[in-house]
Amino acid sequence: MRERLEALRKEAEVAIQAADDLEQLRDLRVQYLGKKGELTAVLRGMKDVSAEDRPVIGGLANEIRSQIENLLAEKETAEREAALEKRLAAEAIDVTLAARPQPLGGMHPITAVVEQIEDIFTGMGFVVAEGPEVETDRYNFEALNLPQDHPARDMQDSFYITPEILLRTHTSPVQVRTMEEKEGQVPVKIICPGKVYRRDDDDATHSHQFYQVEGLVVDRGIAMSELHGILAAFAEKMFGMALETRLRPSYFPFTEPSVEMDISCIKCSGKGCRMCKQTGWIEILGAGMVHPRVLEGAGYDSERYTGFAFGMGPDRIALLKYGIDDIRHLYTNDLKFLRQFQSV
Ligand code: DAH
Repeated sequence: MRERLEALRKEAEVAIQAADDLEQLRDLRVQYLGKKGELTAVLRGMKDVSAEDRPVIGGLANEIRSQIENLLAEKETAEREAALEKRLAAEAIDVTLAARPQPLGGMHPITAVVEQIEDIFTGMGFVVAEGPEVETDRYNFEALNLPQDHPARDMQDSFYITPEILLRTHTSPVQVRTMEEKEGQVPVKIICPGKVYRRDDDDATHSHQFYQVEGLVVDRGIAMSELHGILAAFAEKMFGMALETRLRPSYFPFTEPSVEMDISCIKCSGKGCRMCKQTGWIEILGAGMVHPRVLEGAGYDSERYTGFAFGMGPDRIALLKYGIDDIRHLYTNDLKFLRQFQSV
């Protein structure tokens, strides 16, 4: 009996040392210490041991059991640590390695200009409004004092979807939509940036789809001087320099009187250069006092209220501001071109 126990101790020691993963150790635990295990089997033979030897053999069996327990526990801990070490080594990352540069998108020049326009006008108390790009004839023309067969409709060749529905040719319809929504309330002080569409052949200065920003102010006692003051302040902020501005008489059906605003040339400061075609002036927007018929049509009493409106082209402003010579660059998605604006 004693020999069998000693043999078992040796065998277990060797087997446990040789085991090299947790699963094998679990099997060994069952094999030696389990209910059907080898130690248990030997102990079952105790009944054949003489009464005087029994305590000694019993003591030895217990000693061997706890020794095997300890060996298993030690080996298990060691294996668990080794497994962890192995995993940590496999998952190690070299934090000293130089980072791979991630390509980062930049702002499109038109987006940059539109956002700047929004910042400047919201800073002066304007609210940004929106309107649909698919518009009805009424909002795009009729309500802006451009009835059927009005010759000025020819100024804006249109993409018609049905005889009554078209792609908006300008953002001015949002003037009427906004006034209708406000139901005769003042003040109205909005800008509306967005895409517009015209049946033009694309060339260096024309695009069949481009951007506009519309502006509208309606309140009691609004005069031409407010129009000029606000738009002059806008121009200086937009181009980041002191500028001269002038209003030239013009014609738009929805304003009376109508003007175009020029700024002194941002390149030559008015001396005359190629950019301003030697005139010293650059036209940047159309504007005017809202036509009484437009006010009345949208539910505003033109005896009590007056207003001014303006429309400008962010594309044109982007061309001027960044010295781009062809509007098509803004729409052809050439990355070599666009990457130049990464920091704008
Ligand atoms: N809608 C005009 C255009 O597309 C621009 C414009 C001019 C808008 C004068 C206005 C304005 O609101 O008052 O050419």
